[in-house]
Amino acid sequence: MTVNDDSFQRPATYPIALRLAGRCVLVAGGGRVAARRIARLRHAGAQVRVIAPEIDDRLREDLVQGGIEWLCRRVEPADVAGVALCFAATDDPQVNAELAAAARAQGVPVQRADDAEDSDFLVPALVDRGPLQITVSSDAAAPSLTRRLRGHLETLVPRAYGDLAALAGEFRGQVRQRLPRSARPAFWSRVFDGPVAEHVFAGHLAQARSELQAALEQENPETGLGTGEVYLVGSGPGDPDLLTFRALRLMQRADVVLHDSLISPAILDLVSPEAERIHVGKRAARHTLPQGDINSLMVELAQAGKRVLRLKGGDPFVFGRGGEEIAELAEAGLPFQIVPGITAANGCAAYAGIPLTHRDHAQSVIFVTGHLKAGELKLSWPELAKPGQTLVFFMGRKNLAIICQRLIEHGLPADWPAAMVIDGTTARQRLIAATLADLPERVAADTSTGAALLIVGEVVRLHAKLGWFQPSGED
Ligand SMILES: C[S@@+](CC[C@H](N)C(=O)[O-])C[C@H]1O[C@@H](n2cnc3c(N)ncnc32)[C@H](O)[C@@H]1O
Repeated sequence: MTVNDDSFQRPATYPIALRLAGRCVLVAGGGRVAARRIARLRHAGAQVRVIAPEIDDRLREDLVQGGIEWLCRRVEPADVAGVALCFAATDDPQVNAELAAAARAQGVPVQRADDAEDSDFLVPALVDRGPLQITVSSDAAAPSLTRRLRGHLETLVPRAYGDLAALAGEFRGQVRQRLPRSARPAFWSRVFDGPVAEHVFAGHLAQARSELQAALEQENPETGLGTGEVYLVGSGPGDPDLLTFRALRLMQRADVVLHDSLISPAILDLVSPEAERIHVGKRAARHTLPQGDINSLMVELAQAGKRVLRLKGGDPFVFGRGGEEIAELAEAGLPFQIVPGITAANGCAAYAGIPLTHRDHAQSVIFVTGHLKAGELKLSWPELAKPGQTLVFFMGRKNLAIICQRLIEHGLPADWPAAMVIDGTTARQRLIAATLADLPERVAADTSTGAALLIVGEVVRLHAKLGWFQPSGED
């Protein structure tokens, strides 16, 4: 069959959502299909009349709860009189056909469980989120495809969306009264994309309600501009699949993004295409924008009502200066959210097959900066140069030789395992596993210039057995 076949030429169905509360709906048949229809009808508040000589056990239980009337007999065409809707779901096609004809003659829309073509309407697959209902239909062409899609949507749309829709419904009248029509869409997108929605997702409905009330009162009816917000988001070590759902959500709603050099193009591609991009990144000594200027820029943008995405590599609170960046916002009383990311330590270790702790080899793990401060590596070497622990050095490539030397001087054996993970979790990942004595030379011989993480400890040896990731080498 091709898409040019006649079966695809028929007109499309017209989707609507029916209000059936208090109205009588006839369901002919008492089997599993009928039970499914009845469950949804009851949810819609319909008065359900079931006509069938036998009914499913589940339906018997539902009878007790009310809202269903069961006539224990075979259905007849005359039964369609006066009902709002009719479901012909008996196991006899002849009976269903006669009922459908009778319903149609009386102007009652009918659905046949056994024949979509002889039905006036179809029952779509449903993702039910309170007042928010997402329905999927293929005009009976591919029910298993619609079920599949429904399954995807179930996982994609958090249950709390129903609460969010209900809350919006509560405030709809007030918003109409206070804001001109032109300002409403921007207001609602700030509600759905900002702290109000986040409170709902976190299950804090009372807080969400008061935040929404406050946001509405703060709104300037003239400009429609409220206060902006900053999202300090960790984007992980490089593989876009390691972003969190929350990071992705905020990336797609930002008005402006401030990002570092370490953020991969594949991740930046996931930021809303409408968002303005500002490269504030730093790589080694080449600072594009001084830290103080980045902090002030975020404050300025948020004060101008923008949703500012500050996208950081790894986790913002692990050698990311996230604390400093957010401090100025806190002082200015501007709203912000912090979204953790997978730090390079976790990402590189997992993708290199090096467990950071292990019952037999490492009872603790220490994250250390390998960056010089005032030309010195001021670290407590006696604490670091101990067996039974794993050391992870960030920004340690330049000072690799000094780091390895100090660890040996303070007691670790020269053949102690050490590895450099370069461009970890990306298609360009390189792992150089060696010892403290020979790692600096091996790394110096490597021509790549990517971000590099040093892991020191007995756990490094496990990569030979646990390594699994095969980088494709292509971006
Ligand atoms: C300024 S720190 C930022 C760390 C980041 N906040 C985190 O949690 O991963 C930058 C250092 O992280 C490490 N790093 C970040 N991404 C990396 C990657 N994909 N592969 C290896 N090391 C990485 C390198 O040591 C790099 O010099």
